[in-house]
Parts: sequence; C-alpha cells; structure tokens
Amino acid sequence: MTKKIIAIVGATCELGIELSKIYAKNNFDLIIISRNKEKNNNLKNLIKEKQKDTKVFSYELDILDLENQSKIYNKLNKPIEGVISLIGETHNIEKINDPMFLNITNINYSYLANFLTLFLEDFHKKNNGFLICVSSVAGLRGRGKNFIYGSAKAALISFLSGCRNYYKNTNLFIMTVLPGFISNQGSKLNKVEKFLSISPHLMANKIFLAQSQKKEILYSNFVWRLIMFTIKILPNSVFKKVKF
Ligand SMILES: NC(=O)c1ccc[n+]([C@@H]2O[C@H](COP(=O)([O-])OP(=O)(O)OC[C@H]3O[C@@H](n4cnc5c(N)ncnc54)[C@H](OP(=O)(O)O)[C@@H]3O)[C@@H](O)[C@H]2O)c1
Repeated sequence: MTKKIIAIVGATCELGIELSKIYAKNNFDLIIISRNKEKNNNLKNLIKEKQKDTKVFSYELDILDLENQSKIYNKLNKPIEGVISLIGETHNIEKINDPMFLNITNINYSYLANFLTLFLEDFHKKNNGFLICVSSVAGLRGRGKNFIYGSAKAALISFLSGCRNYYKNTNLFIMTVLPGFISNQGSKLNKVEKFLSISPHLMANKIFLAQSQKKEILYSNFVWRLIMFTIKILPNSVFKKVKF
C-alpha cells in the first residue's frame, strides 16, 4: 500500500521527534528536514527501529541559507500530503539594537515563511495539502523580555491567518499552534513555568488529534487560552507595568 508523505521541518527538536513517531505510526512516510545531519540520522534510525515499514527521507537545511531553500525543496520531488514546521529560535533581549535581531526574525519568520510558501504553492496547484506551523503565545502580545522573538512569532501568526483567508475556497488546511512552555529535557523552568508547561509528547498528540478535527488554532491547553485572553485584553497602561 502506498503511504502518504509528510514533511517535518525542524524535525530534530523534541516536539519534532514526537511528531515524527506519531505520523510514522499512523501510516505516513516521512521527509525530515533539519540543519543537523547527525541529529537527522539519529531520528531516521529511531523511526526505522520503531516502524520498520516507514520510509524516511532526510535533508539538511539551515533555514537562513536562502539559496539552498529552493534547491532542497526541488530535491524532495515527491507527492507531499502536508508539512509541519517546528523551526524556531527562542531569544531574550539583551539590548534594543540586538546583534541577533535579524537572525531571530529571519529564523522565526521571514526565511521560514519563505520556505513554507514553496510547499503552499504546490498544495494550491493540486488543491490539497495541509500546513501545521508552531508559533508561540509570545506572538500574541509583545513583552519587554523577548519582543524580538515575540514580534517574529506574531508575524508568523499573521502570515498563517492570511493564508487561511487566501486559501479559503480551496482544500488547503492551515493550523497555527500556540504553545506556552514546552518541557524539553534540560529546559530550565521555574515552578510556575513547570506547572504551566506541556511535554513534547503530549503536545505532539494534541497536534495530531487537532489535525484530524480540523482545528485551526491550537493552544497547549485551556489554561493558556485563558491566560492569553486576559493578557490580550489588559489595557496598555496596565500591561506596560506588569513584570513577567
Ligand atoms: N520551548 C518552549 O517553551 C516553546 C514555547 C512556545 C513555542 N515554542 C516553539 O516550539 C518550537 C519547538 O521549539 P522547542 O523549544 O521545543 O525546541 P528547539 O530545540 O528550540 O526547536 C527549535 C527547532 O528549530 C530548529 N532551528 C533553529 N534554528 C534553525 C535554523 N537556522 N535552521 C534550521 N533549523 C533551525 C532547531 O534545529 P536543531 O535541532 O538543529 O537545533 C530545532 O529543530 C519552536 O518553533 C519554538 O519557537 C517553544
């Protein structure tokens, strides 16, 4: 039986690994795209161990390598059913004229979105396909601590919203994922953050379920939905004084 193929961009983070396992288990062959060959090979081996009948094709791409984006995309050359994007680089501000400014905005938004448009164009041609893209609650209201990262995630949220509108009369499905904290191995979360966090395993399962239910916006859980609703409606005069 021919299987459907899913492309996972940024597949080597913990959430990407969990998603790879879930989609492989659910009869998808995988195209994994990440910047790190060794991590790619490890993931390939892991999937092969767990799901012997799953084909895994791997490609290396640093998303900042604009020239290579279309070269890699053209190499994929397979009927891809959907794409999941996990690429992101978290960043706390050190100074307003931060040397990381362009890298952070390009990784989290512009160069990433540019790569995703290659998939969208093909999905549109065949009038079928899905894009699941992980943004962040940090994109819902700019905070003093991390607003370079947050503004790029906000642009990504807006891009995805625009895509849903642009493709409204097609069979394309577009999901925005808005996690709060993800409890990766080695993440340094304080007590409250830990309490509010979600494991990559659970987040991946929620994403898979939400895709089957055609949910377009997915938070980690109801608590985060509530927190962000409150944060969004706080008047500016109050919000700018809040410390978090
Ligand atoms: N951790 C959280 O609390 C949290 C909260 C909200 C949203 N998110 C979002 O969730 C997603 C997963 O993040 P994570 O924190 O769980 O793990 P992470 O390890 O920070 O994941 C980031 C992924 O992006 C890839 N990446 C970063 N820069 C890249 C570049 N220049 N080219 C290609 N790939 C690049 C990383 O590749 P490597 O594997 O090679 O490093 C990794 O696969 C991200 O989009 C993040 O913004 C995370």
